[in-house]
Amino acid sequence: MSTSNKTTFSSTLGVIMAAVGSAVGLGNIWRFPYICGKYGGGAFLIVYLCFVFLLGATLMMSEFVIGRRSQHTPIKAFQALHPKKAWGLLGLLGLITSFFILSQYLVLSGWTTDYIWESISGNLAALGSDAGAISNYFAQFSTNALRPVIAVVIFSVICLVVIMCGVQKGIENVSKVLMPLLVLLVLVLCVRSLTLPNAGKGLEYLFLPDFSKLTGEGVLAALGQALFSLSVGMGVMIVYGSYMPVNDNVFKTAMWITACDTLIAILAGVAIFPAVFSCGFDPAGGPGLVFCVLPNVFNNMGGAGIVFSTIFFLLLAVAAMTSAISLLESLTATLLEHAKVNRQVSAVLFFLLSSAFGILFSLSIGPLSNVTIGHAHLTMFDFVDKLNSIYLPPICSLFTIFFFGWVMPEADIKDELSNHGVLKIGYYKVFRFLARYVAPLALLVVLITGIMG
Ligand code: PFF
Repeated sequence: MSTSNKTTFSSTLGVIMAAVGSAVGLGNIWRFPYICGKYGGGAFLIVYLCFVFLLGATLMMSEFVIGRRSQHTPIKAFQALHPKKAWGLLGLLGLITSFFILSQYLVLSGWTTDYIWESISGNLAALGSDAGAISNYFAQFSTNALRPVIAVVIFSVICLVVIMCGVQKGIENVSKVLMPLLVLLVLVLCVRSLTLPNAGKGLEYLFLPDFSKLTGEGVLAALGQALFSLSVGMGVMIVYGSYMPVNDNVFKTAMWITACDTLIAILAGVAIFPAVFSCGFDPAGGPGLVFCVLPNVFNNMGGAGIVFSTIFFLLLAVAAMTSAISLLESLTATLLEHAKVNRQVSAVLFFLLSSAFGILFSLSIGPLSNVTIGHAHLTMFDFVDKLNSIYLPPICSLFTIFFFGWVMPEADIKDELSNHGVLKIGYYKVFRFLARYVAPLALLVVLITGIMG
């Protein structure tokens, strides 16, 4: 195999921190707790754990193997592992997916960045416990022509600087600082939340199994969430796999990442729901929970509310940042491999492109909301949201796992998983079965029901 791509993380810890950084994001702290409660708490959690450890981890291992074996970024990775060059198109599709996810992600990350300031400055606290005023404040902010755009730019510039510093000095070092900080922040919030009166109600909502709420829709949501949360299906983990040291144990690393990602999602739920229920609020979904309900919860905590609210929005921004960094890195590294440009130029180019799209999506919520797409008259933001949830990730995941299970030579997979015969791979038969049959079938179901739904 080619060794043209020599960049690596310095250690297994570096890989784990960077990949956990990619995996832990808005999906864990914002989305997971809400859908877990909505679809039956403990009942959803059981299904989610099965999906995340059986299918999500299988996809992650597949991407790591493809990346480390080929030592390439997605387009060339698929081409290096199979003589038919057309497989490169799958890599391209993954990159297009990463690009759209990044552009949309920048809008939401910008909101969280702005809300750190809204919190520190006391603007949120000044709204008191007037639910209408808090929701209005968010509506005015998100539809404003300037403020969310400035926030997108600030957030993107920070990501750009990290990418420009390189894989070890930038991504790895930043992840090694931000990930422990994130754990600390979430733990502080958990302690606060659990010590509020009636905290038990929130824990019940989150953990008590209610199988009557676990509908087919909930099962599909669990699978979609498992894949999104682990950042698989768009080639990012192929790029990180190509940076993996040769003696790293792919199986163990993937299990660690999956476990950390899941644990942080659960902790986020513990930090949020006991507090929400303790204040007597209804758990909301989407932006409503984070930007309309939680500020009210913090304002109910008295003087210390400002501190906890700032910690919370900082936590969200930190989580979003390491995820956005991984998406930007995937795009940057690919261009770096295909064109005669250096890392700085490549990073700046994708920074400009993704923030330009991010700004456009942001404006489509406010001043450009009259510009719509298709018969359904979706705004640009809603259109990209649909693309990013229903179409692109399941398609890419499906083809990637198909390539891995049915096209890539099995000898290469075994050689890579065993580190050229050094490691025992007792799990292989189960893993192979999941990769060839269970994962493609599950993804096909998700895709078809998503399109028809
Ligand atoms: N896993 C991230 C989250 O849970 O928010 C989102 C994400 C990051 C998806 C990177 C895909 C990706 F390549």
